[in-house]
Amino acid sequence: MSPFWSVWIIVLTVANILGCLWLIRWTMRKRADESAQGDVTGHTWDGDLQEYNNPLPRWWLWLFYITLVFAAVYLALYPGLGSFKGFFGWSSGNTLSADSGSQYSGEMAKAAEKYDPIYKQFAAVAVADLAAKPEYQEARAMGKRLFLTYCMQCHGSDAGGSRGFPNLTDADWLWGGTPEQIQASITNGRMGVMPAHAHLGDEKIDQVATYVMSLSGRNVDAAKATAGKETFMSAGCIGCHGLDAHGNQALGAPNLTDNTWLYGGSEGAIKQTIANGRNGVMPPHKDLLGDEKVHLLTAYVYSLSQK
Ligand code: HEC
Ligand code: HEC
Repeated sequence: MSPFWSVWIIVLTVANILGCLWLIRWTMRKRADESAQGDVTGHTWDGDLQEYNNPLPRWWLWLFYITLVFAAVYLALYPGLGSFKGFFGWSSGNTLSADSGSQYSGEMAKAAEKYDPIYKQFAAVAVADLAAKPEYQEARAMGKRLFLTYCMQCHGSDAGGSRGFPNLTDADWLWGGTPEQIQASITNGRMGVMPAHAHLGDEKIDQVATYVMSLSGRNVDAAKATAGKETFMSAGCIGCHGLDAHGNQALGAPNLTDNTWLYGGSEGAIKQTIANGRNGVMPPHKDLLGDEKVHLLTAYVYSLSQK
């Protein structure tokens, strides 16, 4: 904040407080001057409701003074007057400006002192053991709590996913289900790129969609599916989804034969995927969470599909 605005705020704030003080004293004095205490003022409402000229009860008046004193004391101790930091030097701090000595960084340091040894201890254990062994129940519970904080909004509280957000509890993986692959998904994020194929035209899209539906055993028009297969082979689909359409985990290209659908398996949804493309984004969590929390999350996610 520039010095000008700091002074501006200080002047406005102090002037307001002094203004309130003056207002209280002024109204008291004015009433006393103009008409005798106890007289009616001449204001009448609802026919017979008259206003008397009596001073405020003393205790009420004191409440006004106390709030003014409170404001002055508060502004002396805590930040509030422009860039004056207050005599306590207190600051809330937050994730954007966690200056040392702030309440936020203090609480974070306290939490780190308590939990870091636990994270460190679990970080030394292999993911497969954390996911399965009974003695690591607590590690999985911590992983679940992390999941409910950082992942649930996209993957669902049961990790079951929804349209565009993969189910993490089945054995069907876009990018791979080994501990290393899951850890890489969480650490670095993933970006699925299914290019738009609107240039193929409606007829070919209709045919290739029919072929895709036939792959998971649905009853479809055989002639249309055969024509669609030709397009599938020639239009570049096999470059990502593979000759047999079983997908490619290096590219995050889904298996199209298993009747599990990321974007919906209806004819309309499949056509839309092919025509307009899709771009699923899993954000990277390396900087947000650090390696040790990602390790626990990996174990929790891995455990979900190991039944
Ligand atoms: C550049 C690689 C690439 C090419 C080429 C490609 N795909 Fe895809 N496809 C993907 C990826 C990656 C996804 C997953 C997108 C995501 O995760 O957001 C996908 C998703 C899909 C889906 C949705 C699957 C689901 O579970 O909902 C269908 C259907 C599909 N592709 C069909 C095709 C067809 C048909 C072609 C050829 C016309 C094709 N793709 C060409 C990479 C590709
Ligand atoms: C902003 C939404 C979002 C958040 C938050 C999010 N994810 Fe994801 N995640 C996605 C999407 C979308 C994909 C699929 C990317 C694609 O289409 O290829 C994905 C993919 C994944 C995959 C790969 C799945 C597979 O089939 O290979 C894993 C594992 C995963 N997420 C775990 C997590 C964990 C653990 C967290 C919490 C730390 C998390 N995600 C937070 C959206 C999110």
